[in-house]
Parts: sequence; structure tokens; C-alpha cells
Amino acid sequence: MFEQLSPLPADPILGLINAYNQDANPNKVDLGVGVYKDEMGHTAVLQCVKAAEKLRNEDETSKVYIGPTGEAAFNQKINELIFGQHQVLDQDRVRTISTPGGTGSLRVAAEFIKSCNSEATIWVSNPTWANHQGLFTAAGVEVKAYPYYDYETKSLDFDGMLNALSYTKPGDTVLLHACCHNPSGMDLTQEQWQAVTELAKDRGFTPLIDMAYQGFGQGLDEDAYGPRLMAQELDELLLCSSCSKNFGLYRERIGGFTLIAKDSNTANVSLSVALSVVRSIYSMPPAHGAALVSTILSSEELTAQWHQELAVMRERIAFNRKSLVEKLKENGVERDFSFITRQSGMFSFLGITQEQVATLINDYSIYMVDSSRISIAGINPSNVDYLAKSIASVIK
Ligand code: LMR
Repeated sequence: MFEQLSPLPADPILGLINAYNQDANPNKVDLGVGVYKDEMGHTAVLQCVKAAEKLRNEDETSKVYIGPTGEAAFNQKINELIFGQHQVLDQDRVRTISTPGGTGSLRVAAEFIKSCNSEATIWVSNPTWANHQGLFTAAGVEVKAYPYYDYETKSLDFDGMLNALSYTKPGDTVLLHACCHNPSGMDLTQEQWQAVTELAKDRGFTPLIDMAYQGFGQGLDEDAYGPRLMAQELDELLLCSSCSKNFGLYRERIGGFTLIAKDSNTANVSLSVALSVVRSIYSMPPAHGAALVSTILSSEELTAQWHQELAVMRERIAFNRKSLVEKLKENGVERDFSFITRQSGMFSFLGITQEQVATLINDYSIYMVDSSRISIAGINPSNVDYLAKSIASVIK
């Protein structure tokens, strides 16, 4: 049976991990996968996570099955993190389950959408995270793209976006990035969120918000503006969250799948469908990451520590954006890269060609996705000069 198979290329993002690790060049720079790195290029375990892990080691009494909804305390804390003091939490129409990371949540969302509508179409931004297309197609959901990033002006093509979404039909789903748009770094303004919300009401589509970077953009509350607005204004909303980045829990695989229905009864019916999806894919989520997050968010002290550590990560990324743009200028680059400082979160496109990306990888050991998406957190004081000089020589 296996002889029928043909080899597939490595994943365009994850494949970079191996390539980078195998490169012996001491000057190599990793701007590939979206993981936070500190000034030393290290992805450390957060101190608040270390503290929560100690508590968990002492308190954990059983490894018995946790059930498909995951940990109730985690689900509640995630709701509060996403929606704050929002009245939607008092309306008994929000249901959240723990999932294996943000990707697990998106896969549940995809199967859930397919269960709602066997002819389902999801509209995704052009560009979007490279894995979105595969995730939805695998569940049999048709994927259509709406314009989003204007590669010429390095800004948002909001008119193009609204125009394309005016062709959506009731029952369609529209994928939006809550903040820190992956891969472009271009986020919707508050006014633009309002306009998309109005369009959702007019056209009857259901938004699915991918919220993988809460706290990495402008702040925990600021980054939740879109979800909170839509939760207030719309009868239905889907949201996939992740604790990979903001809690640094990448390999623990913990995220949440949240649905908001028009009333409590519909929320219960919808939850039962989501749980049956979970049962048929992975049965139930891992428990460790959820326990760490709920421990942190249940303790004032650990929450304060987490806020501080998150602010350090967010501010360092914003600093790196400025620092790269300055260094490019210092190295005689005349092309305007200032758009990088107007974008937000982990990623931006350099806006160079695939050949230039290949040269940076092959000749300079500077790793990035071939679209020229760079993970800004991989920049640090000891590599930014080399990075800017290398870009300067490749684009001259
Ligand atoms: C990324 O976009 O680099 C991250 O979200 C990691 C991944 O799984 O692709």
C-alpha cells in the first residue's frame, strides 16, 4: 500500500527548523518559525510557568482522563482573558473547550463548520497563515480568499477586503486574525473592525477569529478589541485561541475553541456537536498546559508576573522592528522599510523576491519563509547588524 505514496515537501514554515539547526554557520539567524526568542536567541520557559509547574507537581493527584471539554477552570479563565468583563459572559451563550494548541482548535472549528453546513465556504485573507488552507480543506470546507495585504503599498487593502466580503452568503464563515496578522503584521483598526462587524450583520456570515497572539500586539485588552466587539454585536461567533506564544507553552499544545451562539440552548446544542468532533479526532486534549495557564490566571501574583513577562516580549518585538529599520538605513539601504514599524506582532514581510530570500538562506544563513515573512523576535543586538548588511547586499 505504501508504494502508492509520493514524497511531499517539508512544511514551508516548520521545515525551516531543521534547515536552521543543521546549518553550521556561527552567524546564522533564525527568522523562520514564529517563536519568541530573547536577546540571546533563546526561547526560555517563562518564570510564571516555572512557578506554576512547581505548584502543579505538588498538587496533581491523578492522571485520569480529563474529558473532551478539557479543564473547566482553564476554559473559564480563557473566556475572561478574551472577553474581559464583557456582558457576553453573563448571557450564558459562550462555550469554550480546551484544545491541543491553536491548530487543534482550528481543526475543530473546521469540522464544526462542516457539520453546520455541508456546502461550507470559509473566506481567508490573502495572505494568511500557511496552514489555514490545509486545515480547512482537510475538513472538506471550501476556501476562498479575500484581498487583505497590499504588497505594493505595504498596507491594508481594506476597500478590496470589504468589496470581496460583500459577495459572502449567509452560512459562509470569514476568518479574521484578532491581532498580529500572520504573516503580514497588518491589523484592522477599531473603525475597520466596526465596518466588518456591520458587514457580517448585513451579509449574515459568521466570523471565525484566529487569536494566536493576544498580548503580543498592543496589549491584552487592546488585542481583544475585535472579538469583544463582535461578541457584543453578533449572534454567532467562533474563536480559536492559543497559549503557545503568550504563555510560551508551544510544545505543551494548549489552546481554546470558543463558540458564541444566539442563546443558551443553541450554545448547548452547538457544544454537543463540537464535542462529538473532538471525540472523533483526538478524544480529549492534553491537560498539562491548561493546568499551568489556569494556575497562573487564578493567582494574582502569578498573573502579575505573567503580565510583566508578556510586556517584555511585546516591547522587545516592537524595539526589534525599529532597530532593523534603523540598521538598514545605516547600511545605506535607500528603499523605505519604515512600514515594518507600522506593523505589529511577530511578523512582517520584507517584501523581497523569492530568489533574494534563497540567497539570504543559502549564502548568508539567514532563515525566513520564502514569502519573505520574517519572525521579528529572532532579531537581537548581536545579529541585527549582520542581518541589515546582508539584506543590503542582497537587494542592492
Ligand atoms: C508560525 O506561523 O510560524 C507559527 O504559527 C508556527 C506554526 O505552526 O506555523
